Amino acid sequence: MSTATEARSLDQGVAPSRYARGWHCLGLAETFRDGKPHAINAFDGKLVVWQDSKGELNVLDGYCRHMGGDLTQGEVKGDDIACPFHDWRWGGDGKCKAIPYARRVPLRAKTLRYETAIVNDQLFIWMDPEGSAADRSILPIQLPGLAEGEYADWSWNITEIEGSNCRELIDNVADMAHFYYVHFSFPTSFRNVFEGHMATQFMESTGRPDKAEGYSSAGSDLFLKSEATYYGPSYMINWLWVDYKGFKTEVILVNTHIATSPNSFTLQYGITVKKPEGMDDATVAFIAEKYTKMFGEGFLQDVHIWKNKVAVQNPLLCEEDGPVYQLRRWYEQFYVDKADVVPEMTERFEFEVDTTKANEFWHAEVAENLAKRAAEEAEAGRPVHH
Ligand code: FES
Ligand SMILES: [Fe+2]
Repeated sequence: MSTATEARSLDQGVAPSRYARGWHCLGLAETFRDGKPHAINAFDGKLVVWQDSKGELNVLDGYCRHMGGDLTQGEVKGDDIACPFHDWRWGGDGKCKAIPYARRVPLRAKTLRYETAIVNDQLFIWMDPEGSAADRSILPIQLPGLAEGEYADWSWNITEIEGSNCRELIDNVADMAHFYYVHFSFPTSFRNVFEGHMATQFMESTGRPDKAEGYSSAGSDLFLKSEATYYGPSYMINWLWVDYKGFKTEVILVNTHIATSPNSFTLQYGITVKKPEGMDDATVAFIAEKYTKMFGEGFLQDVHIWKNKVAVQNPLLCEEDGPVYQLRRWYEQFYVDKADVVPEMTERFEFEVDTTKANEFWHAEVAENLAKRAAEEAEAGRPVHH
């Protein structure tokens, strides 16, 4: 038995008290276009989102600067959001536009507003604790063909994660082995590239024939090529090229989160499928639904882990693990003042994991599982099939 002095410590650290600088996705833009104010929990507070008469989406701090009324429970009046407490009207530029019962509006009556952008049908805001102007050069890319109708409609999901700091999600980018254990697939090739505000995972894998969940529900007939890029601290686009018995599909998974406190975040994920040329809408919808279910399940396997694990500042790694520490150094750039971003956080870093040993062991384990299952089925008198 090891003593406390020999055992490696599990340093859970302290969750950062600030929030990541960058573009944060609030959800599908369409959901905010109903003429009502919407509440988004974010950064230890609340934001109000509404559409004005010109079709612009506006985002302000959710609490009225008069006496703290909750603007998300107010009403949209004309272009402005009206507070439910005393009807002060706030414009999308953050200025107080009118106080109907008052002779005049106090000079410089202004609240906190967020600059917005719409990319991939989704609403983004720029957040910087230092208050810098939005940097549009680092917005996530617009998916080519999306606006042209080449993809099915987004299937969009929102889930609250309590008890974890959002960095837990980021570690996934460098985590090769969890694909076998959590997503039931064999990652045969696994590479990371971190550069500037982007961090990418390149992976090729096949399904595990001894499991029938998530990515693996199609077993070893499924070959998957995946490329997942974080554009800034919280928005990931994952291109998934699926080859199922020679039938190829391009799936896109968007995975985005917004911190609600140092220890909780809202996770949103959307899935869409590229419409194969010449295919009728009903078939496209059928395929989209099938992959939404498959990758949605796969994603929930991660969510289950995140909800139950603890944070660890000092992960103990083996050779087959990806570059977790380098990834965290990349992520750090979003949590320091702009002036404190050092080259080690942003310069190009590339690393490929050697998956040979892992696959040798995994294939043997899966063969064993299949043999065991066949024996059990034979004993129970059931037909044996793979
Ligand atoms: S608190 Fe909003 S109008 Fe008074
Ligand atoms: Fe995962």
